[in-house]
Amino acid sequence: MEKFVVTGGRRLTGEVSVSGAKNAVVAILPATILAEDVCRIENIPNISDVTAMVKILKTMGAQVRVPNRTTLEIDTRHVRSFVVEHELTRQLRASYYLIGALIGRFSRARVAMPGGCYLGLRPIDQHIKGFEALGADVTMEENAMVHVEAPALMGNSVYLDVVSVGATINVMLAAVKAPGLTVIENAAKEPHIVDLANFLNTMGADVRGAGTDVIKIRGVKRLHGCEYSIIPDQIEAGTYMVAAAATRGDVLVKNVIPKHLESITAKLIEAGATVEEYDEAVRVKMDCRPGHCNIKTMPHPGFPTDMQPQFSTFLCLAKGTSIVSESVWDNRFRYAEQLQRMGANIHVNGKSAVIEGVETLKGAPIRADDLRAGAAMLIAAMSAKGVSEIEEIQHIERGYENVVEKLRALGAKIERRNFPDEDEDAQRTAG
Ligand code: EPU
Repeated sequence: MEKFVVTGGRRLTGEVSVSGAKNAVVAILPATILAEDVCRIENIPNISDVTAMVKILKTMGAQVRVPNRTTLEIDTRHVRSFVVEHELTRQLRASYYLIGALIGRFSRARVAMPGGCYLGLRPIDQHIKGFEALGADVTMEENAMVHVEAPALMGNSVYLDVVSVGATINVMLAAVKAPGLTVIENAAKEPHIVDLANFLNTMGADVRGAGTDVIKIRGVKRLHGCEYSIIPDQIEAGTYMVAAAATRGDVLVKNVIPKHLESITAKLIEAGATVEEYDEAVRVKMDCRPGHCNIKTMPHPGFPTDMQPQFSTFLCLAKGTSIVSESVWDNRFRYAEQLQRMGANIHVNGKSAVIEGVETLKGAPIRADDLRAGAAMLIAAMSAKGVSEIEEIQHIERGYENVVEKLRALGAKIERRNFPDEDEDAQRTAG
């Protein structure tokens, strides 16, 4: 097993380039199942969620070429299987996008329930509601397989009872080749929804309105191959922005779409940071202790839940009291316990946390409970006095490409270490 050993107290300075968006690529890779030719996709991040999704596609019969480090060429013409087993799907949440893509291609799918970070209950009732509205028959099998039969998929209106990224994407995938008009109302508006719509349209689909809460999809008979480049990752960018501010640094975060970062920028400015926007970069500077502020997570364009742990960690160092309300997930404050070990004064009550800022955090042995909690632990460790050891780093590597190299280039002192072996070796040497 590996852990990160971080020596805190160093300002992050310099430039960092953001990779392609995890939550876009994990929808776009399954969407290639709908194409009748090769799709060349650029700006692919090298993260373990992508590795897992590519492995699943290959198991299904897709041919995948890697012409360079950030590009994949995917040929799904030989995919014959509409069944995806549990071992693979539980590695990531987005494996449920295979259901929408497979029923769009084969009119049927049998896919095991997905995995992903534990953030409280993660139902899929809205996905099922959408598939059924299009005429599919959905059965939840006892062995945790979702079985969908859709011999005559047909466009229809789908009103989502909750704003769901996953359900919006899955219904788009299922509807894109269904005859007639599908209208998704109360759709999610996240940047990755727009990216998927743009990808589908580049393949010849007719998807309009993505980025608003009504998406209209007119089914087309065929989708062809295409060349496409994934948008930059909003949350990776936001994480480096907050890391810069938390370490009182000065960082130019490059290869971003500043519009996607507005809610994060606004909150950083409210807490006293300086944020300069350029065409494809933002520069974050902070040279004093942050001021307190409140945040409430909301679907896009509100403050993203996927930035909540990182921003709450930053607020642990603020002057005064901040209140953080989580309105998307039931259980996204598990990391608070780790911050308390570092001296943070954060108290969770259900879906909110009250944070009394302290002047400094101190290094401690801590754990990445999930992907964004892991990013928060990195920020806490880098801004703390002393050494922290972060375990369960595999969660972080699901969504952050080359995180150690990127942070080191900004001046962080961070090492990847095997354990228990290297620790034991060190103890033997010391002894
Ligand atoms: N919900 C339902 N029924 C459904 C689907 C969702 O009640 O059928 C509820 C959920 O329980 C939750 C809310 O709706 O309370 C929003 O869930 P959503 O479906 O939007 O989340 P998701 O698609 O499972 C994606 C991201 C998450 C991100 C959320 C919210 C991917 C692969 N995952 O999850 O990203 O937190 O949207 O923006 O796109 C992460 O990257 O760290 C991550 C967890």
